[in-house]
Amino acid sequence: MSSLSGSAIDRRALLIAGAGIVAAATLPRAARATTVPTRQINLAAAPGRVSLVGPAHPATSVWCYGNRVPGPEIRLRQGERVRIAVHNQLTEDTTVHWHGIRLPNAMDGVPGLTQPPVKPGDQFSYEFTPPDAGTFWYHPHADSLQQIGRGMAGALIVEEPEPVPIDRDIVWMLSDWRLTADARIASGFGNAMEAAMSGRVGNTVTLNGAVSDEVPVRAGERVRLRLINCALARIMALRFEGHRPVVVAIDGQPCDPHEPEGGRILLGPAMRLDVMLDMQGEPGLRYRVIDDFYQGLSYWLTELAYDERSSVRAHPLDASLALPRNPLPEPDLITAERHELRLQGGMMGGGAMTGMGGMRDMAHGASWAINGASMTGDGHAGMPPLLTLQLGRSYVMTIRNETAWWHPMHLHGYSFRVLSRNGAAVPHRQWADTVLVPPKQTVETAFVADSPGDWMLHCHVTDHQVSGMMTVLRVA
Ligand code: C2O
Ligand code: CU
Repeated sequence: MSSLSGSAIDRRALLIAGAGIVAAATLPRAARATTVPTRQINLAAAPGRVSLVGPAHPATSVWCYGNRVPGPEIRLRQGERVRIAVHNQLTEDTTVHWHGIRLPNAMDGVPGLTQPPVKPGDQFSYEFTPPDAGTFWYHPHADSLQQIGRGMAGALIVEEPEPVPIDRDIVWMLSDWRLTADARIASGFGNAMEAAMSGRVGNTVTLNGAVSDEVPVRAGERVRLRLINCALARIMALRFEGHRPVVVAIDGQPCDPHEPEGGRILLGPAMRLDVMLDMQGEPGLRYRVIDDFYQGLSYWLTELAYDERSSVRAHPLDASLALPRNPLPEPDLITAERHELRLQGGMMGGGAMTGMGGMRDMAHGASWAINGASMTGDGHAGMPPLLTLQLGRSYVMTIRNETAWWHPMHLHGYSFRVLSRNGAAVPHRQWADTVLVPPKQTVETAFVADSPGDWMLHCHVTDHQVSGMMTVLRVA
């Protein structure tokens, strides 16, 4: 089926030698009332032990939510108010960020900036009403390198009011770990050299918390597959052998259904893609899912293992693949104010520093900057905003990557239109909250500043974020 080598045993031991890679829509949201009763959820953050690589290897000590990896899947309905009480049972501060959810600033989970950190033994209740249906996730925003890198992440699914015509809804939380030979999490978080390059890319990728040999499927079924990349730094490019996945949503926001370029699904850290997968394979056969983002380091993530039984249907489902759109305010490109965000810093392949102005202008110890300024860490009090935006106004932000590295740029609290890449219009009416910007490329985005507060904007390669590729946009 595939030309790739490597037995399951090899893969379990160590997958890849990763360490060497070097309407009313413009009203403030708070003004929208809701009458749906509040749902109550408890979420504990605590150390735990889980089996990541199978019974032949020792269990791994992790930090996690709800005593499992990934954390419990939270499923909400669009417009359903929720209160999530987070109990901190770690020995250090934490917060939870509800990645991609358009919520009030005070619920955004950035320590210092939007809330005091949650101390060990304390709890904090997050309360919000998700305005958009889609695939989101939650993760800490304190000591992010270690807390995310040691396993703290969970899926947050917001369901459409009307069921979507599919046979199954499957979530794949894809996590990347750097494990030692005895399946322990390797130390060395925050290595400065690595931070100035690709970030901490690991050597083991898990699917829903374990190295996966197969995912059972049935011929003829239509699966909505929700892909979530929760890696600290690993970018993925997934190919489904013998299948034609159709992308129907990006970062939770529906787009015009389309097949990904070259059949490769590009997924940077923190990005989500919903794909519709018609199971067109042969009963009894297996088809590999391959990640070949890093040259020479491709591996198979899992196999779609077809049941022996014949197809569940005689003809492929002809229901529409398009998902209902969310109530996003459309930016007015004519009157929009324009700004540029220049991503700077990092090492070149040869070891020299790059970037206009480069390292000279950066705060001591930082490797990266946005427009010459380096905000480091996970968030803290008194972060001066790079820009102050006017509530209700449209903005076009051009993100110019002047570095030699890829950056998945995330804006908190908003979804933005992705208008163009290197001057070429982006098709399929795409929205995102985390846009992957390749080296030396430029991406033009736009949004309506409809939600007040101080919002983080940062690279989601966690090493890049904490070493300077972060800033704050104030909407006032
Ligand atoms: Cu998932 Cu500040 O980000
Ligand atoms: Cu980056």
